[in-house]
Amino acid sequence: MTSSQPEHAATIEARVRCALLRESLALVARGVATPGAVDTVVRTTVGRRLSVAGPFAIWEQIGWDLVQVIVGELVREISNATTTLDALDTILASASVATPVETDGADSGAAKSVQRVAVVGAGLMGHGIALEFAAAGRDVYLHDISSELLTQAVDRARVGLQALALTRQLSDADVNAALGRIRTTTELRECANAADLVVEAASENRELKQRIFGELDVYAPAHAILASNTSTFLPSSYASTTSRPAQVIGIHYFNPPHLLPGVELIRGPATSDQTAATITALYRALGKQLAPLNGEIQGFIGNRLQAAVLREAIAVVEDGLGSPAEVDAVVSAEIGRRLPDAGPFAQASAAGAYATRALLEEHLPLLSNKREIPGLLRQKVKAGELGVKVGQGFYSWTPESAEAWRRHMSDALLDLAARLDIPTTA
Ligand SMILES: NC(=O)c1ccc[n+]([C@@H]2O[C@H](COP(=O)([O-])OP(=O)(O)OC[C@H]3O[C@@H](n4cnc5c(N)ncnc54)[C@H](O)[C@@H]3O)[C@@H](O)[C@H]2O)c1
Repeated sequence: MTSSQPEHAATIEARVRCALLRESLALVARGVATPGAVDTVVRTTVGRRLSVAGPFAIWEQIGWDLVQVIVGELVREISNATTTLDALDTILASASVATPVETDGADSGAAKSVQRVAVVGAGLMGHGIALEFAAAGRDVYLHDISSELLTQAVDRARVGLQALALTRQLSDADVNAALGRIRTTTELRECANAADLVVEAASENRELKQRIFGELDVYAPAHAILASNTSTFLPSSYASTTSRPAQVIGIHYFNPPHLLPGVELIRGPATSDQTAATITALYRALGKQLAPLNGEIQGFIGNRLQAAVLREAIAVVEDGLGSPAEVDAVVSAEIGRRLPDAGPFAQASAAGAYATRALLEEHLPLLSNKREIPGLLRQKVKAGELGVKVGQGFYSWTPESAEAWRRHMSDALLDLAARLDIPTTA
């Protein structure tokens, strides 16, 4: 990968920055998120990753075929505003700009009421979710469809706990005790039947999730809260197969879940205040930083922002302003560098409404408004250049270089966690 600065670095930076700000403003103007919630998501999740690598390298990890599905959905949804949003002045003048979502004052009683957590699906996300609960002293029952997958998950949880130990001052004994709190089973009934909370992190498939929620409703105790980590489906769609929609909620983590503190909370129309309050108290006690949404919206906050950044990154490449590697270098070095400390609203607020309006007025008319999958992305998928999993995408990968990239990302996120996150006890 090259880190050279292209001739058009300033334009690339301004366009991608404005694409991020445009979608941030649109989310607030629609009333689905506060500026504080948007900034929390950016500072604690997507912005941390962008401070380490650009959008091409990041999305390349999961593969362009999957990105085509995720982003293909979201480009139909995200903002296409071409003039400064009317709400800009009001939003920037609002008291909640630059104010992080409140994180203290957790109701310790509600947090302590959740002692047994079932995690359904022990893959990339499930093992990380499980290890974080275990590190916080919860008894975790991890479920997947085969004992081989569960053995692998526990091995990965050990590695994850060792990483977490560096930022949370866990001793070897703490790591072993946490591992000892993770039990595994291939039986969903066994996993759920004593749970206070179930977090579903199984493969992304609507019918599968609806079936799992229907079964969890039968197996889990009546008081248990049922949550999903799905990136795609809305709580109303999986709550519908249960008899307890008031106790169903979306808890959307970001990868890696134990190294990124931000979590989006998505209430369905039937989710009760009590369910939201219990989950809020629990996650605050775990040291997570919460970004609650006011209602259901496709892509939540983080994936809509990421889709806006990727659409613009692709557009500047298609406009000949730089190669994917050059755009990645500009985004991570110039835009991403500030994002772990200040989200788009905190930055706009610091720059002032006048300067922000001027930036937007100059660049909004230039931004991509494509409603379909960008051509460059379609070409990559057609050519089979899907990214890391096939060894070729916008970059060439060997198993060694892919592993080195993952390690670099993980080490950088650990460093950020050590610098920015205050360890808490639950
Ligand atoms: N990967 C990410 O960056 C990311 C980020 C946020 C949310 N999510 C969401 O998390 C969920 C899991 O994603 P992942 O990346 O961990 O996928 P993954 O493929 O790594 O893991 C999914 C696991 O679910 C298991 N599974 C399949 N059917 C099952 C069943 N019937 N019962 C129990 N387990 C079953 C699979 O065997 C697999 O181990 C998805 O809903 C996804 O949208 C993923």
